[in-house]
Amino acid sequence: MADKSLLTYDWSGSILDGTGLANDALTELADRLNAARDEVVKVDVPLFDSGGEVPSEKQPLDAGFVEMPTKISDEHKASDDKSELGRILASAEKLRSLVDKVVVLGIGGSYMGARAMMDACRHPYHNELDRDARHGVPRMYFEGNNVDSDAAAALLDILGDGDDWGIVVISKSGGTMETAASFRVFLDALSKCCGGDAKKIAERVIPVTGKSGKLFELATAIGCEDIYEVPDGVGGRFSVLSPVGLVPAAILGLDIEQLLAGASDMNEHFRNAAVGSNAVLDYVGVCHLLEDRRMVNLRVLSVWSKALESLGLWYDQLLAESIGKQERGATPLTVVNTRDLHSRAQQHQEGSRDKLMTNIIVKEMRRDPLAIPESDNNQDKLNTVAGKTLQDIMSAAIAGANQAYLDDKRPTADIHIDRLDEYNLGQLFQLFMLATVVEGRLIDINPYGQPGVEAYKKHMFKHLGLA
Ligand code: PA5
Repeated sequence: MADKSLLTYDWSGSILDGTGLANDALTELADRLNAARDEVVKVDVPLFDSGGEVPSEKQPLDAGFVEMPTKISDEHKASDDKSELGRILASAEKLRSLVDKVVVLGIGGSYMGARAMMDACRHPYHNELDRDARHGVPRMYFEGNNVDSDAAAALLDILGDGDDWGIVVISKSGGTMETAASFRVFLDALSKCCGGDAKKIAERVIPVTGKSGKLFELATAIGCEDIYEVPDGVGGRFSVLSPVGLVPAAILGLDIEQLLAGASDMNEHFRNAAVGSNAVLDYVGVCHLLEDRRMVNLRVLSVWSKALESLGLWYDQLLAESIGKQERGATPLTVVNTRDLHSRAQQHQEGSRDKLMTNIIVKEMRRDPLAIPESDNNQDKLNTVAGKTLQDIMSAAIAGANQAYLDDKRPTADIHIDRLDEYNLGQLFQLFMLATVVEGRLIDINPYGQPGVEAYKKHMFKHLGLA
């Protein structure tokens, strides 16, 4: 097992005269940050645990995500196969033995975390490898996150007409149109592939949903043996470390204990570290202060690894749906560098001064870095850097971009992780979820729920004759 250390957050690039923050800005905000933290750990969680009376302005109170990783892990350590995680691992193993392709159907918080885990922790071309190279882990595809007929039809082409594929259908409410419509289409196809054999179909479908609702009833009617629950008190975009993310993660063969350990360790750090050395509180403080004092309301998450793009998209949803309310809330934007230095950097360097660049920087590559070879054909003049690795160029680009922003007094901050693995990913998930809730408490916006999403649904249902 590789060394485990906590990620670090460095905001020195935001300490700028005139356009950024002062050295002691966070100290001035410390009392309010601590009060917001107390609300999250001392108010939200006990209220959730005891099922106590939740004041109307705090509803829905979906703080269950805070303690969930520790609870799931402790339960697994205590009861092994009988625990929820033990059952998830067994279901995953069974599905892996039956199929070679899995379609995860879900939208928003019901799929983005799983996608982020696959992209960050599996081979970047996982689905293109043969089964041996995948170590028996099925190919995984994501659908039901749209109603794009061509895309769904194309995936059905890939799945073919054999019975070597299965479905994980995830919907907390059980009634989301995109997921429900896709489930019907894919279930129909699966049923044909299984020659209508009810047992075979049921074995190939794993639903993750609320305790009751349309999907729960449908899954029961199909005869699914293992139906996993999205726990009460855990909102969709906060559910990545519940069965919503853990079922796909288990099918992908990820190290779930490490994922949960990363999240638990981040909880511990969040609870105990003081402002100034608390990654969650410092991250919130810097983002908030720049927005409040400098009108910096565009949060650019700049990931310096292709494998983190889906994590960035997961975070875009988390921040946008949680804080984008009451005509307020910063706008998230993920960029993948160095790719987007050639698309967005012009604007970030010289456009409006409304952006904070938060870099996520990965220290160690998974594989030996590729070096630039010497060549007799030196027309590209690269022999001067021969022997340097692509990672050396990446490091130079990170330093160069940060320096360029600093020279023009544009704020940056850095999150450093050691490597891309489950432990570090668990930390990142929990850091961002906690930060989002703390920010909500700091600015009096309830981070849970997404009432604004209902507006389009109402009209869509009318157009479909459903309302
Ligand atoms: O964060 C949220 O709650 C939403 O993004 C939901 O995850 C999304 O709307 C899907 O909902 P459901 O899981 O009920 O199908």
